[in-house]
Amino acid sequence: MTAPLRLGLVGCGTYGMQMQRVFAAQQRMGRVHLVALAEPDAARRARAQTGFDGAVFADAARMMADCPMDAVLIATPDHLHAPVIDMALHHGLHVLTQKPLGTDPALATRQVAAFAQAGLILYVDLHKRFDPAHIRLRHDIASGAFGRLLYGSVHMEDRIEVPSVWLADWVRQSSPAWFLGVNFFDLVTWVTGLEPARVFATGQTGVLAALGFAGVWDSVQVKVDYVGGMSMHYDLSWVLPAAFPSVVNQGIRLVGTAGLAEVDSQDRGYFSATAAAPGSVQANPFGMYDRLDPRFGPVPDGYLRQAMTGFLNVLEAHRAGIGLADLAGTYPDGASALTSVRLAAAVDQSLASGRPEPVLPPA
Ligand SMILES: NC(=O)c1ccc[n+]([C@@H]2O[C@H](COP(=O)([O-])OP(=O)(O)OC[C@H]3O[C@@H](n4cnc5c(N)ncnc54)[C@H](O)[C@@H]3O)[C@@H](O)[C@H]2O)c1
Repeated sequence: MTAPLRLGLVGCGTYGMQMQRVFAAQQRMGRVHLVALAEPDAARRARAQTGFDGAVFADAARMMADCPMDAVLIATPDHLHAPVIDMALHHGLHVLTQKPLGTDPALATRQVAAFAQAGLILYVDLHKRFDPAHIRLRHDIASGAFGRLLYGSVHMEDRIEVPSVWLADWVRQSSPAWFLGVNFFDLVTWVTGLEPARVFATGQTGVLAALGFAGVWDSVQVKVDYVGGMSMHYDLSWVLPAAFPSVVNQGIRLVGTAGLAEVDSQDRGYFSATAAAPGSVQANPFGMYDRLDPRFGPVPDGYLRQAMTGFLNVLEAHRAGIGLADLAGTYPDGASALTSVRLAAAVDQSLASGRPEPVLPPA
């Protein structure tokens, strides 16, 4: 039997704790060994340390230097993925990074090339590619069922606690386009195969500014023209009121010359109202649930978790002798994630200039 893959986790905030739980279950199943974690914040480090049997570091560089491992899992704030990716490259480690791949398209492009050169896997957690409804959408588009794609729309909107509480430490370095838009920027290119050519973005401020986050966009609208003529409209926002029945509201529709498709990713058919909590809840059980395994107990599952464990499928295939070139296209690799980074950067440029801006092709 091959030894479990040795993993180190970098960043133990909200999503890092999700990742720790997902990979702890994979450890019970004998697939991995979470050998170390790194988190600079003392309180979060202490929380992550509870019940954890690996080594604990304040500094990610120290962790990678001192602790032998095969790969790192990155859940730092968006603008801090790139330095950790560089550290992993320096230590010859495969990477699973949270989306976005980075916030600087030129740097991200160089990192993708460097990982390929080093024969290392650079995997981006772009979970929308794992939603069965989106897999079906991609299949139907490829079959020609909708004809030539003409236009469509996306909405992704978070409740206000996300920017104002969860991301309070780094919301000034982010925006609805980076934190939310990247998910669907990536998805649209993944399902259609079309590359963005030009963007025009507008936005609003005021709600978050009143809470002390001056200069942070409340909402952003993006019109994207794709190579070949398709046009998409994206409504991105993170100021939905606390009364909204789920943390995120989201969906996509695409219209072609021969048909259309719509995916409502928020209303997945599960609604509840209980005496214990005010208001009602519209949950998405397909994204996250615990599967009860007879041997391993509760195993976090659902497409959000499959986007993480998909990294292990790729690492195991690679260890079994399948080369990176043959694995390409089977997972959200760095090269395919670059489009979403270039598009989000072009949105920033358009918001700043007040004009349509080109989405620059890869350098
Ligand atoms: N895939 C998804 O659906 C999804 C959902 C939410 C968040 N995310 C992504 O996950 C990432 C983390 O988001 P979050 O909500 O957990 O943020 P967070 O602020 O809760 O956590 C980030 C953590 O990283 C730590 N950190 C900062 N610099 C570090 C460094 N150099 N080394 C180690 N740790 C460091 C911070 O102290 C903090 O604890 C972001 O990139 C975000 O976009 C993905």
